[in-house]
Amino acid sequence: MELESLEMDRTPAGEALPKKVFVKTYGCQMNVYDSQRMTDALAVDGYAPTEDAEEADLILLNTCHIREKAAEKVYSELGRLRKLKAARGSRETLIGVAGCVAQAEGQEIIRRAPMVDLVIGPQTYHRLPDVVRRARKGERVVETDYAIEDKFEHLPDARPAMVRSRGVTAFLTVQEGCDKFCTFCVVPYTRGSEVSRPVAQIVAEAEKLAAAGVRELTLLGQNVNAWHGEGADGREWGLGRLLFRLAEIPGLARLRYTTSHPRDMDDALIAAHRDLDKLMPYLHLPVQAGSDRILKAMNRRHTGHDYRRLVARIREARPDIAMSGDFIVGFPGETDTDFEETLKIVRDIGYAQAFSFKYSERPGTPGADRNDQVGEAVKDERLQRLQALLTEQQRAFSVGTVGRTIDLLVEKPGRQPGQRVGRSPWLQPVIVDEKAGEIGDIVSVRITRAESNSLFAEAV
Ligand code: SAH
Ligand code: SF4
Ligand code: F3S
Repeated sequence: MELESLEMDRTPAGEALPKKVFVKTYGCQMNVYDSQRMTDALAVDGYAPTEDAEEADLILLNTCHIREKAAEKVYSELGRLRKLKAARGSRETLIGVAGCVAQAEGQEIIRRAPMVDLVIGPQTYHRLPDVVRRARKGERVVETDYAIEDKFEHLPDARPAMVRSRGVTAFLTVQEGCDKFCTFCVVPYTRGSEVSRPVAQIVAEAEKLAAAGVRELTLLGQNVNAWHGEGADGREWGLGRLLFRLAEIPGLARLRYTTSHPRDMDDALIAAHRDLDKLMPYLHLPVQAGSDRILKAMNRRHTGHDYRRLVARIREARPDIAMSGDFIVGFPGETDTDFEETLKIVRDIGYAQAFSFKYSERPGTPGADRNDQVGEAVKDERLQRLQALLTEQQRAFSVGTVGRTIDLLVEKPGRQPGQRVGRSPWLQPVIVDEKAGEIGDIVSVRITRAESNSLFAEAV
């Protein structure tokens, strides 16, 4: 960082201090990526990132609105931050709310939380430095319009040193927004309609990440497999073709993508799972529920049979693929029989990994207007049964990998001295001795045992 470009605070002794920003991230991987891009944008304005809220001149909460609990967390955190702000006395502390709660609630946040100085929605992050400058002059800024300009074009690239500090794996958003309007979901309202980033922009960003040492790239989108764009050959590309292009970038050894919608899994993408070695055998493909009646009420636009057939085709292309999913229990009108269908589809598919949630009524979504909401006790009981089954499947999958020799990407130091942690092709955390390989290496290891949250392996 060039010191001249920094806006300086002074210590009592008159020494110059760079300003610091603390970003707390909630929600999905897209928020993780956005937090990094916001940090990069603020770095240009002289804000250095810090892990310690107490020394921050600017605190940003990058929030999630997906379930009521997630949204409420933000207000309890703001309560804590108010005390912190008071304790810093005359030193400037700006508090900002970004992300999906900012987009959904806008002005309401300022009303409910007087300590908030700025509110900024996900479509306008390129305006963040300007919003911060205005807030520093005392304006309480709410910036939640859908910008007409392409924010990605206006956001600065991460500096190589910043990329390196984040490690050998990275996220890259290729698609944003959603036009699917599942009846339980706020995302189409908080993230707007589907937009795909252009091929050249994605390739340029991926090349920079790879040049700074990134070995594994995960492409992100609310419906990442709906990504499409015009390729260098003038043809319309889908995600499968884009993955082939990214696989040509020197240094990138592994590719992943998330989250996919069953309706957008096309033949070319399935073929990529068969033909592209760098594409890892892991697929997060939420089905949400097993009953066709509930799937219809959710507006998922596919049946349980469609999903089973799709997974069969994917497994034909890539037999060792690890399936992952999301599930909702207690959608309005869900009966015991409907719920049994969810358990059945889980048994039929066999998941290596999954996330499951109790339905949460979200303001403004069609599900929230229904008068056949399921009681909390029933939701609790169903969630417990579903999670017991999913946990059992996850354990079975892990145990099934013991004894196998796999490629491991060594990612970071482990919790214990002398250990390193990496990921298997199926996204499982694997612990090895540090002699097994340097960070960023892909090494051949044999899995020796499975514990509840990680695998252990030895070099071969
Ligand atoms: N775009 C992705 C997921 C977006 S949100 C997809 O289409 O699958 C991540 C997950 O949160 C969803 O898959 C769903 O399982 C869950 N979710 C979304 N809205 C919810 C709600 N109102 N209550 C409970 N879970 C919800
Ligand atoms: Fe939400 Fe459905 Fe869109 Fe996924 S596909 S983001 S669940 S509306
Ligand atoms: Fe949450 Fe917004 Fe992601 S609501 S899950 S942070 S898209």
